[in-house]
Amino acid sequence: MKKFFTTPIFYINDVPHIGHAYCTLAADTIARFWRKKLGRENVFFLTGVDENSQKTVDAAEKLGEPIEKYLQKMATIWRETWEKCGIDFDDFIRTTEPRHVRTVHEILQKIYDAGDIFPGEYSGLYCTGCESFLKKSDLDEHGNCPAHKVPPQKIQEKNYFFRLSKFQKPLLELFEKNPKLLEPEKRRNEILSFIRGGLDDISISRENAEFGIPLPWDESHKIYVWFDALINYRSGCPSEDFWKNSCHFLGKDITRFHCVIWPAMLISAGISTPAEEFAHGFFTVDGEKMSKSLDNVISPLELSQKFGNDALRLGLLSAFEFGNDGDFSFAQFENFYRTKLAGGVGNLFNRVIVLIHKFLAGKKPENLNAENDEIFKNFEKLLETKKIRSAIEIFFETVDGANELLNSTEPWKLAKVDLPAAEKVFAKLLQKLEILASMAEVLLPETFPKMQKMLGDEKKVGAPEILFPPVEK
Ligand code: MSP
Repeated sequence: MKKFFTTPIFYINDVPHIGHAYCTLAADTIARFWRKKLGRENVFFLTGVDENSQKTVDAAEKLGEPIEKYLQKMATIWRETWEKCGIDFDDFIRTTEPRHVRTVHEILQKIYDAGDIFPGEYSGLYCTGCESFLKKSDLDEHGNCPAHKVPPQKIQEKNYFFRLSKFQKPLLELFEKNPKLLEPEKRRNEILSFIRGGLDDISISRENAEFGIPLPWDESHKIYVWFDALINYRSGCPSEDFWKNSCHFLGKDITRFHCVIWPAMLISAGISTPAEEFAHGFFTVDGEKMSKSLDNVISPLELSQKFGNDALRLGLLSAFEFGNDGDFSFAQFENFYRTKLAGGVGNLFNRVIVLIHKFLAGKKPENLNAENDEIFKNFEKLLETKKIRSAIEIFFETVDGANELLNSTEPWKLAKVDLPAAEKVFAKLLQKLEILASMAEVLLPETFPKMQKMLGDEKKVGAPEILFPPVEK
């Protein structure tokens, strides 16, 4: 079996923050889990950037930079940020790349040939921040876009439209057939009630827009950025075998694009729809929405430089269950690092290995294996259903269990009076460390090789190491 995982492609009018990192780290963790199960060649993880947006044009203009230079600079920043954060993507797509433009043209032509695109006149409201058309009923009491707090633009122009209204029934049938088309349940219900409420045709081109991909049959129009962006998942998919088991991760704010417009586009073009989509929640920082005006935007690099990539990953992913909303705070993150990583996992590995050196001259006692299988099976089940936080909990429960065993049996005292009994305790502890290492391959990928080194070979354990060094306040 092959598996294809994607993140949304990010707007690059600014640098990444931990909200973006959250989704990317979650997708990366699930991809790592499946790589461990199926082998590297059977898993493909795609991420990338959404460049054909008015936001990028505005950002480049503000800096007085030529757009191509700005895009190159920002795409590099995003790509390198993910690399520095230990995200192991297989491909990074940019929507200005020729391979993407080609796929967009192919798919749009198919939709056009199917008769689902028609010319018309658009008159209405548009928010560049959202890159989305708004209805009057969407606006707040001041007539502003509720997300961006600015008035939307009034637009009246000749546009091409996508006949989305035609897809109400096919979409409902599709959701009926495929319960994984959108998870969790709450998001699925929202989308179903949105579809049941009736779908309007949508404008998919902008006349004389300065930037973007032109329509294949009418070059005077540029394709609406969402209509081009969604297609990245096809441009970046390596083969139909991968497409069959595609899974899109996305935030809850963009489910209508992904679960209404995107499957309708695919049905129209005669392409199979994604196998799975999963919408995660949003997190606030100390109870507030992250925003420049509140000066509370946190860079993932800031956390990774201070605490390391594995702490960044687990600190974010363990804050609340994947799919829910939650909060992030520095204090909570530091506490997690100190108590769970340094004081929990790090300390456990160090103590056990040091004791085995001291009392058994580093020689490994014989191993028993049954209990480990059970723990790992539970861990697997949770990750198969994308319950990342619960999987992390199993990891820490195992750490706590091992620390309790160590403290209650006190093998450093036992070894002096009954060495064979102490050896049995060490065997149990080593077993726990092995299962922890195997979960760490997915959850703590940069710590995993260090754990392996400490666990040594069949006969002897390796040298003890500090896995999570103390950090300054
Ligand atoms: N370019 C579009 C996606 C196109 S996909 C075909 C876009 N980009 S974005 O950069 O604005 O957002 C990308 C993702 O980041 C979204 O899934 C969004 O939900 C997520 N997040 C942005 N802020 C977030 C938080 N504070 N918390 C969690 N996720 C957040 O939308």
